[in-house]
Amino acid sequence: MAYRTAYPLALIALFTASARGQGAVYSQCGGQGWTGPTTCVSGSVCTFSNPYYSQCLPGTATTTVATTTATSTSSAPGSTSTAGTGTLQLVGVNIAGFDFGCDTNGNCLLGSKGAYPPLTQYSGKDGLGQMNHFVKDDGYNVFRLPVGWQFLTNGVLGGTINQTNMAEYDALVQACLGTGASCIIDIHNYARWNGGIIGQGGPTNDQFANLWTQIATKYKNTAKVIFGVMNEPHDVPNISTWAASVQAVVTAIRNAGATTQMILLPGNDWTSAAQFISNGSGAALMKVVNPDGSTKNLIFDVHKYLDSDNSGTNAECVTNNIADAWAPLATWLRANGRQAFNTETGGGNTASCVTYMCQQIAYMAQNSDVILGYVGWAAGNFDATYVLSELPTQSGSSWTDTMLVSSCMAPKAGAQKGSTS
Ligand SMILES: *[C@@H]1O[C@H](CO)[C@@H](O)[C@H](O)[C@H]1NC(C)=O
Ligand SMILES: *[C@@H]1O[C@H](CO)[C@@H](O)[C@H](O)[C@H]1NC(C)=O
Ligand SMILES: *[C@@H]1O[C@H](CO)[C@@H](O)[C@H](O)[C@H]1NC(C)=O
Repeated sequence: MAYRTAYPLALIALFTASARGQGAVYSQCGGQGWTGPTTCVSGSVCTFSNPYYSQCLPGTATTTVATTTATSTSSAPGSTSTAGTGTLQLVGVNIAGFDFGCDTNGNCLLGSKGAYPPLTQYSGKDGLGQMNHFVKDDGYNVFRLPVGWQFLTNGVLGGTINQTNMAEYDALVQACLGTGASCIIDIHNYARWNGGIIGQGGPTNDQFANLWTQIATKYKNTAKVIFGVMNEPHDVPNISTWAASVQAVVTAIRNAGATTQMILLPGNDWTSAAQFISNGSGAALMKVVNPDGSTKNLIFDVHKYLDSDNSGTNAECVTNNIADAWAPLATWLRANGRQAFNTETGGGNTASCVTYMCQQIAYMAQNSDVILGYVGWAAGNFDATYVLSELPTQSGSSWTDTMLVSSCMAPKAGAQKGSTS
């Protein structure tokens, strides 16, 4: 905040008053455990959302109900006290492109219809520039780098990783690491290879584990690489059998020498945070352990969108997911001594998404003891017209973020702490 001294005196006074007394538009202004400002800057009003969160929303006071109930005790799920610090450990963006050409049955096209590296040297968008911007200007510290299984082995199931293709993907991993951020390797295959489900009629656990042995061998000495076992398993018939496939991968990664890095464990139902407990993913994945029997750095991978069908395909948001997903999940994680990481969430660049996303992020931050953070979907090779675009636009050496990123998702936007700066 040292830069404030360079401001004209009048502006200092204004900024200081605002920071101490009133919340900025979209910032938090109440909720269980909240000790910050409870009134909002002119043109916005403190609006009760749920027992955990009240928020400064655009509007005038005459139309809105008081927020006193915000501090009342709740009987909602997750009403046990929140124990987070207010700051999330890992916050970032998906840099998509190497997963292009993959469908939800785990078919991934190769060649010109397939993987599209988000790097200028491979005729893609400037993923390196995007990541540098996100770190430097927005305060992000993690990127998820989706890639199709078929791309890595050039279409050979159970095969040796293709060095030409791996060199291209590794260029993105190195670009990510070069920013100082953590980098998630995400195999974007929906628990499948060409329609067959891993360990349940499709690839064998050995074939899946073999892929990960090769990846982990390559990155075993890179502390900031995070192993994302599999993107969005869905309609997997037997969750216990799936947990055994995940166990095979964890064992393979650790035995390859990657003994300390974080590994993300995905459940069924598109890794939906809302169904993680109710459909048995949590109970099954709880049994997955490191070779030494511990669960250290084994983190549950969950996704959640805010649109009407949790698909992440609609521009408007309808929920902050707190009551249905995050509160019950946080309670369960705390009771079981475990943590989760939300590696996909996002919404359109619309007022409804700004409202609900800010609420979701603030709740996560209040539960940062069990929720490590979130990764927005998506930047990379999408274009600016994509409904969930988080693609920053470049002009000369400066980058401009989308509305949702600049209003909520970027740590500098302040939704984590409901701060005004
Ligand atoms: C690796 O993949 C490239 C396509 O990117 C292909 O031309 C080459 O033959 C593959 N190498 C091997 C050893 O299969
Ligand atoms: C719930 O899990 C079962 C297997 O345990 C699976 O067959 C089913 O598809 C899952 N439900 C949904 C909605 O995906
Ligand atoms: C799922 O697989 C396990 C073995 O991994 C088996 O014991 C169990 O009966 C199966 N569940 C169903 C519903 O088929």
